[in-house]
Amino acid sequence: MTQTNYPPQHVAIIMDGNGRWARKRVLPRLAGHKAGGENIHTVAKIFAGYGIKYLTLYAFSTENWNRPRAEVSGLLNLLARKIGQETQAFYKENIRLVHLGRRDRLSQKLKEKVQAAVALTKNNAGLTLCLAFDYGGRDEIVQATRHIASAGIPGDNIYESTLAQYLYSPDIPDPDLIIRTGGESRLSNFLLWQAAYSELYFTPILWPDFGLKEVDEALSEYKRRQRRFGKI
Ligand code: IPE
Ligand code: IPE
Ligand code: MG
Repeated sequence: MTQTNYPPQHVAIIMDGNGRWARKRVLPRLAGHKAGGENIHTVAKIFAGYGIKYLTLYAFSTENWNRPRAEVSGLLNLLARKIGQETQAFYKENIRLVHLGRRDRLSQKLKEKVQAAVALTKNNAGLTLCLAFDYGGRDEIVQATRHIASAGIPGDNIYESTLAQYLYSPDIPDPDLIIRTGGESRLSNFLLWQAAYSELYFTPILWPDFGLKEVDEALSEYKRRQRRFGKI
């Protein structure tokens, strides 16, 4: 027997293609990131309208620190500004904001904005919007392992569920569907543990152009998938 659960409970998106979107318009890469940033709220509302409970967006990877300094600071400043400007709106829309990733390498300003946004929206019961930045799947597993070791848990007592409990957000279910925009077919260190049985969907559409029609197509494709989880 095969089973599909529709709509998916948790959709995660690798928001790729901002740089190419800008290049096509002969604009600086940061203009692409700005357009991409503006799309976040739009897409969150679209998914909320479909009844999706969790939406995770990959905004900055642990590897993205290796980009030119000006792009890194531009991106992180943009993120701080966005969080600052939109938290009130998220709050009013009953959206709960969650951060996935490291905080120790973020600027004081960004760290404070994240903490304030998470604290303000923590009791909201609508869409849970997880923003993954300074996030790496391998890094997340390493951090979890360190915590398990420092908690002194003996090896024999470590199960899959133990490790899952030490990840950034243990209360969030694994993504049912992972979408990647921008045409590449890879995970780029996104949710490595949680993606074990996610359906993967790759589209050439660049992130700033990803809207209602594209969400609809991705969900229709998901609906056609047969999830077996190793069974028959
Ligand atoms: C995605 O867009 C945003 C981040 C990785 C931060 P890119 O900046 O990777 O855009 P492309 O892949 O160069 O087009
Ligand atoms: C993945 O995009 C990371 C984010 C979207 C935040 P990248 O553009 O960094 O991925 P690669 O380098 O093409 O694999
Ligand atoms: Mg890219």
